[in-house]
Amino acid sequence: MVLSLSSHNVIQYLQDAGLCSSEDDVSDKSELPGSSKNNFNILVTLADNRQLLLKQERNVNNNDAAPHELFQEWLFHQLLQQFPVLGNTSAITPLVVHFDEENSILVRSYLSEYVGLATLYHNNEIFPQEIASAIGTTLAGLHRATYNRREYQNFMATAPQGEFRYGFYNPAQGLGSMGPEIFGTVPTDALKFYVLYQQYESLESAIADLAYSWNPSCLTHNDLKLNNILVHSRWEQLDNCLVRLIDWEACSWGDPAFDLGTLLASYLRIWLKSLVVDPTIELEESLHLALTPLEILQPSLIALIRAYVNAFPMILEYRSDFILRVIQFAGLALIHQIQDTITCHKYFNNAELCMLQVAKSLLTMPEQAILTIFGISESEILNPVAKIHKFPQPVKEQQLLRIYYEKTRLRGC
Ligand SMILES: Nc1ncnc2c1ncn2[C@@H]1O[C@H](COP(=O)(O)OP(=O)(O)O)[C@@H](O)[C@H]1O
Ligand SMILES: [Mg+2]
Repeated sequence: MVLSLSSHNVIQYLQDAGLCSSEDDVSDKSELPGSSKNNFNILVTLADNRQLLLKQERNVNNNDAAPHELFQEWLFHQLLQQFPVLGNTSAITPLVVHFDEENSILVRSYLSEYVGLATLYHNNEIFPQEIASAIGTTLAGLHRATYNRREYQNFMATAPQGEFRYGFYNPAQGLGSMGPEIFGTVPTDALKFYVLYQQYESLESAIADLAYSWNPSCLTHNDLKLNNILVHSRWEQLDNCLVRLIDWEACSWGDPAFDLGTLLASYLRIWLKSLVVDPTIELEESLHLALTPLEILQPSLIALIRAYVNAFPMILEYRSDFILRVIQFAGLALIHQIQDTITCHKYFNNAELCMLQVAKSLLTMPEQAILTIFGISESEILNPVAKIHKFPQPVKEQQLLRIYYEKTRLRGC
């Protein structure tokens, strides 16, 4: 890296890149709050009210971190430039206006009239089905348009200058091996998480099975959490431009069930983070006492899956176990989120413990988990879509029991 971007040199940088002509063009610059990773993010407001977000990857030379993430976003941008047919929905149009590979700097147009979906849900405590449907339709459109298309796959295999790419990264991974160094890096409370994780043999084998069945077949976003989805602030008055998927830094050739599972996990986290946890309250009771009950989220969860399948019905012919894999990937995403909480915030308590139990159920008993999570069976979810598209129904309607007793009571874990 040659240049280290800061608020002192950002204007000069924009001038050199031809993105603004003089100091007077800039009316404000501020570091972006809430950005998660090792990137440096700075938001610059130009005098004509245009806003640019500059991101610099700080860990390019750090071998522990996944490098060249900004390159991936730029590659996605290039893909849509080269194959414009892919970008015919504004929801996935990338916002990249400049990429500087040498300094690992990416500049995006900033959409000030949009808000993050996590913020919208958090502030308003409403979960409109049309938003979930718009996301499902958008995601399915991307997966369908790229599914099994060799030309897009080859394009996404392009490596950064001087690097080689031997294959696509399989994100269906467990926690990996743990050595004694763990005692120095995680708080004592959090060791419980690793002990439990290692004790659950069924969990490990379910993850191994998921990794084995991971089937890279289309372009995937790979980091589809609510923070990476923007919603127009006037979404109620608009029919389209409702949602935008952003932060394409992890995109690659992947398994479509992974994206949908990650998204599902983000919704489930709203429920799981709202549990009332206390050492004196049993897990079952906590799940029951959630401030945002699962029932409030269920219409959105169902709308998301139905919209996805409606826009990409063939997925159920390509993958008869698609919905089960989505559920399992949701479980895996929850496990990775607990691990992130531990490593980034040095934090693990009963809420994370509940999350682990739910994640385990999703991974090891996905059939039963469908009933619990959605409140209805797989065939009930798919029925309205099946009527339109006439695809085969799930093989058998088993005599399934809910994982939880009435409402959200956890069973068998
Ligand atoms: N182009 C954009 N328009 C509006 N908001 C954005 C844009 N890009 C990023 N943001 C906001 O900034 C946050 C962090 O940006 P993101 O690219 O997701 O960084 P990180 O890699 O840190 O997750 C997003 O969650 C979103 O709220
Ligand atoms: Mg992000």
